[in-house]
Amino acid sequence: MQIHSAIADLRAALQGRDRVVFVPTMGNLHAGHISLMEQARAHGDTVVASIFVNRLQFGPNEDFDKYPRTFQADCDKLATAGVDILFAPTESDLYPEPQEYFIEPPGIQNVLDGEFRPGHFRGVATVVTKLFNCVQPDAAVFGKKDYQQLMVIRNMTRQLALPIDIIGGETVRAEDGLALSSRNGYLSPTERAEAPRLYRELNRIRDAIRSGESDTVKLENAALAALAAAGWKSDYVAVRQQSDLSTPKGVDAPLVVLAASRLGSTRLIDNIEI
Ligand code: PAF
Repeated sequence: MQIHSAIADLRAALQGRDRVVFVPTMGNLHAGHISLMEQARAHGDTVVASIFVNRLQFGPNEDFDKYPRTFQADCDKLATAGVDILFAPTESDLYPEPQEYFIEPPGIQNVLDGEFRPGHFRGVATVVTKLFNCVQPDAAVFGKKDYQQLMVIRNMTRQLALPIDIIGGETVRAEDGLALSSRNGYLSPTERAEAPRLYRELNRIRDAIRSGESDTVKLENAALAALAAAGWKSDYVAVRQQSDLSTPKGVDAPLVVLAASRLGSTRLIDNIEI
């Protein structure tokens, strides 16, 4: 696996490559990321991954400084997964001058996670566009665990006519249902044992809707109450339309249940499609 930190070196390494599929990450890789690499491999000839913890998408009181950085272990995993090229820029490679031009997503950046993480999706959209310009991939893979992020990137790619196929990767879960996430590493053993409740509550909502319940607000409130009773502090549990994350008019259209909740100081997100 080649590793490049300078944009010019990356571009030179990509000269003449056939169908390039790109998987951007912030490192601290787990089985969920590796499944995205495998998906990338199935969709192209050259797999490029990136590792870059993007300051622009973290709020002032978020975990940018403590975000786990495990570069050597990540490189070993990517090499084993058959990744061809790793782009691992430093902050001065990617932001050699203060970033003053941004990609500003529309209203979707202010709902759900965006409501609780102001500026987050603007930071994501900006860095993803910049990474796309560095790698110039034919396709890119993003995990469905960050459902709203995937939607922002799909919409942005379409509206800006970027010639890149966006591929959604299924969420990988631990045996007890907890969605794999780099932030799971922050959980204490007691919190880790409690953490699968989030997915259980999402499943409970899905099962109720499948059994004919149409009062989605009642279901959201029941889940919020169950989480609160178990010590969680929730930002939201929301049943939304898959198409645009708007509030559903009924339960017949494809829906998705999304949640963000805090166990101790760790904020977990998850979602389930119906
Ligand atoms: O999902 C992530 O890890 C990040 O938001 C991404 C897409 C790599 C942009 O920094």
